[in-house]
Amino acid sequence: MNDREFSVPETIRWAPAGLSALILDQTLLPGVHEEKELSTLEDFIEAIRSLRVRGAPLIGITAAIGLAALARRSAAEGVSAQELRTRFAGWAERLEDARPTAVNLVWASRRLRARLEAATGDAGELAAALVAEADAIHEEDRRMCRAIGEHASTLLTGGEAVITHCNAGSLATGGIGTALAPVYVAAETGRRVRVFADETRPLLQGSRLTAWELSRAGIDVTVLADNMAGSLFATTPPDIAFVGSDRIAANGDVANKIGTYPLAVLAHRHGVPFYVLAPTSTVDLGTPTGADIPIEHRDPDEVRRGFGPLLAPEAADVYSPAFDITPHDLVTGIITERGIHRPPYTKSLAAAVGQAEAERRRQSG
Ligand code: MRU
Repeated sequence: MNDREFSVPETIRWAPAGLSALILDQTLLPGVHEEKELSTLEDFIEAIRSLRVRGAPLIGITAAIGLAALARRSAAEGVSAQELRTRFAGWAERLEDARPTAVNLVWASRRLRARLEAATGDAGELAAALVAEADAIHEEDRRMCRAIGEHASTLLTGGEAVITHCNAGSLATGGIGTALAPVYVAAETGRRVRVFADETRPLLQGSRLTAWELSRAGIDVTVLADNMAGSLFATTPPDIAFVGSDRIAANGDVANKIGTYPLAVLAHRHGVPFYVLAPTSTVDLGTPTGADIPIEHRDPDEVRRGFGPLLAPEAADVYSPAFDITPHDLVTGIITERGIHRPPYTKSLAAAVGQAEAERRRQSG
């Protein structure tokens, strides 16, 4: 890390004894900055489902650290290698089901599965291999975020107005974020931009998290309720839109937080370039199009009650998908750690994922 790099909040770390994880509890932000310890499988699943940890890359990192922590605890209890393998299969299956849309969760869990299959030795040695893989996933994510920021910041000269949705910042990753990474990288080199952060109904990740982490870093941020974006585009349009993603299909269709699709439509209408920033771990070549991406629906009370009093009658039904699909033809470019990818995405994304996998194979020897 060079001196000019921003110090971002630590989203997850090992607890000192190495048998559990400490997460920054994002449900309490921005008012309360508190860590929560996750020890059991139920703790990890609950933290992911309730969005104490959230954002596609961070969900994957949390699942990986969770699996490794559980393996270490079992090894410390003295279980056999065979018993640890059996237990691991059950934990992985349950964790992979915690949230359906962000593919990073399954991606990380599969990496640990593969590492365990290749490992030999007693339970302690198997647990050590899993910890090494989880730490590698965490560290790789940190590096991927910075690389995304370096590539995407070439689109900024300084002084631009950037609009973003939800939180695809440091709080969603193990590093400086995806959609917010170019904002940090540009600021490090004196190219300051102004960020418009959609509030992001119903759980307000934009106002609670994006505005918190940017203002903490001294970056100019303006919050707007989601339904104010049209007015902004019609009067003083932003220069560029940067959003994250939970899963990118092979054809470049993008699943991201609900409200991303209308933002892309607005950007298209007003000629504002619309970029999606995500690591290759979010690209799912096994999912052909956006129509094949499973969309999570959340508890109706998140809309009905928000964070306080009743906002809709109990008797009313609620429609609450957590994500929407932005068709690839509304996406100007997809920026991964491998560079800025342009249409046709079927070709450019396959090449990026292929390069990332080849590099990982080279590094693991
Ligand atoms: O429900 P959330 O808060 O997990 O949704 C997060 C998003 O939609 C992010 O934009 C996405 O995961 C990208 S995070 C780098």
